[in-house]
Amino acid sequence: MRVKKQIGKKRIIIAIDGPAASGKSTTARRVAQQLGYIYIDTGAMYRSVTLKALQQGLLDDLRRSPESVSDLIKDIAIRFDGDRVFLNGSDVSSEIRDNRVSREVSFISSLKPVRDRLREMQQELGRERGVVMDGRDIGTVVFPDAELKIFLVAEPRERAKRRYAELIAKCPDGGELPDLDELEDEIRKRDREDAEREHAPLKKHVEAHEIDTSDLTIERQVDIVYNLALDIQKDGR
Ligand code: CDP
Repeated sequence: MRVKKQIGKKRIIIAIDGPAASGKSTTARRVAQQLGYIYIDTGAMYRSVTLKALQQGLLDDLRRSPESVSDLIKDIAIRFDGDRVFLNGSDVSSEIRDNRVSREVSFISSLKPVRDRLREMQQELGRERGVVMDGRDIGTVVFPDAELKIFLVAEPRERAKRRYAELIAKCPDGGELPDLDELEDEIRKRDREDAEREHAPLKKHVEAHEIDTSDLTIERQVDIVYNLALDIQKDGR
């Protein structure tokens, strides 16, 4: 991997938003590597809180009375170490990708106290700038002043195929895999829930560059974002 020297350059914030499986995390991780920036996967943070809710059996309570959310967000510490995610000291990197987490994460993410808590943590993580952060509301809510805002989209079928390939890679014997149609339905449902929620819904910021990745290679989409970042650094904007 080519890492270009960025010493002395203005350090910016790059916000990458978009629907499920649109290529945000791969793009964000590689752009961060090339710029020598840190990468923060905010979806992993919402997934970690969702895992905690499942582990503590809080979901039914939360659905009945959302006030019980205070039990969920107290004592939450999330730490990134390279590609690993730690929730209160335990490595949860694999567990947070389970389908049962994917199915509940939109509900947990719709709760305002959860969003408030995670937004504070995300703003703190980006305080020194030089960060690529991906999620649903990074350009609109967490860092509306981000110098570079990207909105990645792709056709739902294409996104389902990508998620399928990821699951196969993790579980080569095909064990409990949903089929492509089921995956596409789940992705569409999650997009709808993320876009229709009251607090910080998924939407494109007016200043965001929209990139459709349906027919792009990873290399090409990384290059587009990387070059936009270099232009901004060069202009000193
Ligand atoms: O990787 P994938 O595109 O499937 O999703 P993710 O980035 O891991 O995010 C999982 C879920 O977390 C999303 O569907 C949203 O419900 C929620 N999320 C959010 O509400 N706000 C963010 N900034 C990031 C994720």
